[in-house]
Amino acid sequence: PHAAWLPDDAFAAIGSRRVVVAGDGALTGTVAEEVAAATARFGGAFSRLEVGDGVADAELVLTLAPAEAAPAGAAPAAPAGAGTPPDDADADESFRFTRESGAVVVQARADAGLLHGLFHVVRLGEAAFAGPDTDETHAPATDLRMLDHWDNVDAHPTMGQVERGYSGGSIFYDNGFVRADLSRVERYARLLAAVGINRVAINNVNVHEHEAQLLTDDLGDVVRIAAVFRRWGIRVHLSVSFASPITLGGLSTSDPLDQDVAHWWVRAAARVWEAIPDFGGFVVKADSEGQPGPFAYGRSHADGANMLAAAVEPYDGLIHWRAFVYDHRQDWRDRSTDRARAAFDHFQPLDGTFSDNVIVQVKYGPLDFQVREPISPVVAAMPRTRIALELQVTQEYTGQQRHAVYLGPQWSQILGFRFWEPADRDGGSPTVADLATGRGKAAADPGTGTWHKPAGGFAAVSNVGDDEFWTGHPFAQANLYAYGRLCWDPTLDPTAVLDEWVGLTFPGTPDAVRQAAHAVLDRSWETYEQYTAPLGVGFMVRPGHHYGPDVDGYEYTPWGTYHFADRDGIGVDRTVRTGTGYAGQYPAPWSATYESLSTCPDELLLFFHHVPYTHVLHSGKTVIQHIYDTHFEGVERVEAMIDAWSAASTLVDPRLSERVAERFAEQLRSAAEWRDQINTYFFRKSGIPDQQGRRIY
Ligand code: GCU
Repeated sequence: PHAAWLPDDAFAAIGSRRVVVAGDGALTGTVAEEVAAATARFGGAFSRLEVGDGVADAELVLTLAPAEAAPAGAAPAAPAGAGTPPDDADADESFRFTRESGAVVVQARADAGLLHGLFHVVRLGEAAFAGPDTDETHAPATDLRMLDHWDNVDAHPTMGQVERGYSGGSIFYDNGFVRADLSRVERYARLLAAVGINRVAINNVNVHEHEAQLLTDDLGDVVRIAAVFRRWGIRVHLSVSFASPITLGGLSTSDPLDQDVAHWWVRAAARVWEAIPDFGGFVVKADSEGQPGPFAYGRSHADGANMLAAAVEPYDGLIHWRAFVYDHRQDWRDRSTDRARAAFDHFQPLDGTFSDNVIVQVKYGPLDFQVREPISPVVAAMPRTRIALELQVTQEYTGQQRHAVYLGPQWSQILGFRFWEPADRDGGSPTVADLATGRGKAAADPGTGTWHKPAGGFAAVSNVGDDEFWTGHPFAQANLYAYGRLCWDPTLDPTAVLDEWVGLTFPGTPDAVRQAAHAVLDRSWETYEQYTAPLGVGFMVRPGHHYGPDVDGYEYTPWGTYHFADRDGIGVDRTVRTGTGYAGQYPAPWSATYESLSTCPDELLLFFHHVPYTHVLHSGKTVIQHIYDTHFEGVERVEAMIDAWSAASTLVDPRLSERVAERFAEQLRSAAEWRDQINTYFFRKSGIPDQQGRRIY
């Protein structure tokens, strides 16, 4: 497969120097192998020493800190109070980076930190060794930086080998078996380590029959996969079915308050950790889209999660319990049910009742990974619960890796969102990233004064498969890269992160490649939004596979994703005063901001309000004219992207160029289809012509 962001040339700066690696531990071994390979390739010198040995003429030293001298300030700040993780020195991923007269020392308390330090130097390249003397400590914002694979062991009849996967087959499984050759998984683990991912859930949250057995009969397969990831500092998690005691254990119930059920899970967990001592924990999709859960027994999600939490607690295991719970069989005629409300309605009342090792995993928006949604109010509503923010790297609703859409800017906006803006007390009001990572003072909820529990961290659905370029569209690699980097430091500028990706992926190419990649990707999220569903209304995709336009595709279905367009107007009234009340799930000031037509941001207008086509936006345009203008402009922007890349296409690997060209052709076709269907639909509904008289069918 393609080298992605770790081509050999990315190691040139390290490889041409005199490098020392010192210390023990498996990951120090991995670091040493990387350095040995690089120095062999680029003519440098490599020595492996003991910590504290003389290293006089080394240009780069990667060393574990002597036991008594932990790097200053290396431990990330954590707020006091319930749920503070124990000071686990082995899990310490921080490192210290010092440069004196061009010689670099990377020092870490634990070998995981050394591995991250190595890749920090790789990212910097020559710049690591240039510039003024410095002494910096780097630590991740959270130690919970996870990717979820929606991979199936058996290719599913409709969803295939990877649910919502747009990159070929699974790198783990092939038609009913775990692959004999896991060398691709090894390369993947290395790529992930280089961007700081440290946990991977290896099977689909929809746990089908065969996949359920990974927990029991097929545990040996998980052991093999975990061994590959372990060399790169990554722990493995499993998605499990809540009905396992019945389907695997032969019990008559999976009631979480039943003693036999609890014991079944205790024994299952004991077997898993015996086989995989650094196993991470279980991911659970319960009572969601047909998956089994505690509701069948009249129990709450806290009952279900806490029962599992008790089983994994002796091993410091985690339960990632997903909050994606809603009625997927609603009657479209029923205007009182609002899917957007569901996660909050189910989970907020349970705040404070989850065990310390339960993490409630919340999708960033209340619906489903749309190109634009308000941030889920659940993130703010449960200060006494560990919350993980769930993102989707796989582009289910954002072009399915046929369209070039760089999601870094969207994630950055989500991570930086402040529920209690403007800041009303010292330290500012917390961002979403603060709430998910429990970082310091800023994570106190100004509404209640309650400290948010630390570290629920981040999770996201992976976009990788056995495709030559890993991700279908080669540019979709940038999304995987950015997800890792933003988990490590949510305050990074997404354009700068993209720049890192370009520099590593296309080393030694003329600057034209860098410029073209930025021209294509910097504003691509906004471009995709322009030619698809307008003003935050969402969906309008083809049912089932979710690719391409179909304005009414979901309008009369049980899925709860409606736009309510008629001849006069469009949008969902989610106000407290006249609508579903969803706006009231936000703390002030956002509850009021979204409630009022005069303050609701344009990009979310139709998520919160039903308005006439002639409603005038803050931008000064009517809704209908905005729809026409953005759809014409979106397609023009795709044309401009293609033009911008043409200058670079001959400067990169021809196979990559060919793949990009093929995807661009499809993006342009699809964007034009979106433009014409959306414009035509709303012209026919409203009868209002385009002010500029452009072609509408
Ligand atoms: C979306 C997606 C499903 C997935 C679900 C989930 O609805 O289309 O394939 O199972 O999200 O997140 O559980």
